[in-house]
Amino acid sequence: LSSFVKMLVENFRVESENVKYTEDEISSSYQYQTTELVHDVKDGKYEWVVRPKSVTYEFKTERKVPKLGVMLVGWGGNNGSTLTGGIIANREGISWVTKDGVQRANYFGSLTQASTCHIGAYSGEEIYVPFKSILPMVDPNDIVIGGWDISSMNLADAMDRARVLDIDLQKQLRPHMQDMLPMAGIYDPDFIAANQGARADNCIKGTKAEQLEQLRKDIRNFKAQTEVEKVVVLWTANTERYSDVIVGLNDTKENLFKSLEKNESEISPSTIYALACIHEKVPFINGSPQNTFVPGVIDFAVEENVLIGGDDFKSGQTKMKSVLVDFLVGAGIKPTSIVSYNHLGNNDGMNLSAPQTFRSKEISKSNVVDDMVSSNSILYGPGEHPDHVIVIKYVPYVADSKRAMDEYTSEIFMGGRNTIVMHNTCEDSLLAAPLILDLVLLAELFTRITLKEDGQDKFRSFHPVATLLSYLTKAPLVPAGTPVVNALAKQRAMLENVMRACIGLNPENNMMLEYK
Ligand code: NAI
Repeated sequence: LSSFVKMLVENFRVESENVKYTEDEISSSYQYQTTELVHDVKDGKYEWVVRPKSVTYEFKTERKVPKLGVMLVGWGGNNGSTLTGGIIANREGISWVTKDGVQRANYFGSLTQASTCHIGAYSGEEIYVPFKSILPMVDPNDIVIGGWDISSMNLADAMDRARVLDIDLQKQLRPHMQDMLPMAGIYDPDFIAANQGARADNCIKGTKAEQLEQLRKDIRNFKAQTEVEKVVVLWTANTERYSDVIVGLNDTKENLFKSLEKNESEISPSTIYALACIHEKVPFINGSPQNTFVPGVIDFAVEENVLIGGDDFKSGQTKMKSVLVDFLVGAGIKPTSIVSYNHLGNNDGMNLSAPQTFRSKEISKSNVVDDMVSSNSILYGPGEHPDHVIVIKYVPYVADSKRAMDEYTSEIFMGGRNTIVMHNTCEDSLLAAPLILDLVLLAELFTRITLKEDGQDKFRSFHPVATLLSYLTKAPLVPAGTPVVNALAKQRAMLENVMRACIGLNPENNMMLEYK
């Protein structure tokens, strides 16, 4: 019976006086248990007191799942074409022949579609439910996909150019993808590597202000033509160099708007896409490392209450790092040197071979251990940090099959040294595509949730800077004054527990007192 039940629990309802289901929404009243720290100074010594604190929150989640359109910037790239092919293959139930046998389409690697959460016990068995069953979410098979690319290639040829999906699968997908044509994108050779010039045959002309207007029109037309109810836009285009943040140029919304009218060269294409989305009240997520979200953009998003999230998909090497360093520091072991080598041969690798774009990647890959290091003052003194070096090389032959080699050296008991070396080989786009899916599905979900704290009279949405997406990004974008969490397990727990709170369930505490 128990293994049968395990298979069965794909949907459930919470029965509690704190939770109410109506046709339109799920509302919950939730006790958030936290602490506050206070101190006294007695005889020149600090005395610390920790006080448990309980705050009542109310959550409301709209139950109606909209028809969702996803617009990718860089649609014709490796990630864009792989995600498109993957969604179609799942939707159409395609299977294909490989040298290892018949393979069926799946959503492996997607947190929402292929992972589970513990929900309780039944008849002595621990029961896990699909992550996506906690709250009503869009089914990825129902997504309508579109977007922009500076390369005019249709999506079937783009999939062929990417060399990611198996050839038998490509043959079956071709008829579904050959008529998919990306809209013209904004090409500015100052922001990406010069080696990208050859593919830029599909570009929006005009001044920056005119380009912005064109993008706004594109979003509205896409919505009208596809009859979707909501749109989410995600940047999976080339990594840009950082733009300079300059007082008077892009430091406030007003200055950014003025600079746009003056056609200032330091406004990047990705910033223009973000602005267009905020104008159109459409969530915008940045999957690359550059600082698209200059202060003026963040100001504007906060003012308009439009969700923005980023930066840089956390797919392989960094995901491992945010697990391994958390484990080491959490075990009382002191990482002192972390060296990460990558080589890859896809177009992303070619673009990153220029120093300015590499620098963006280097920055986003470098900060990922900061919170773990600063959490342990027994191991690290003030300002102390492990040596942390990132190397990326372009090796065309390996194509999308990225190689990542990492060496972690740590100090252990009594002056001992421990060195761990890892080698990871994987198709980069097969790791990134499911993350894109999670990012857009979760972003859409968050726009249907409102909350209020004890004492507040009005429900509000989550802060527009979507820290709840941190699990999926290397350098989580957070509002000023908010701590950045990089440790993967904490990021997952944050997301899962906030979603549980929306249905009135306590955080998963792993105490298992019933068995103690
Ligand atoms: P890609 O180079 O195959 O695709 C990027 C596409 O964007 C190209 O088709 C290009 O023509 C297009 N493009 C460039 N600038 C554009 C613009 N301004 N407007 C519209 N289209 C534009 O790269 P891939 O492998 O798909 O990766 C995409 C991005 O995702 C890169 O920035 C990469 O660093 C980032 N990323 C990828 C990860 C992965 O595991 N694949 C992990 C983390 C980040």
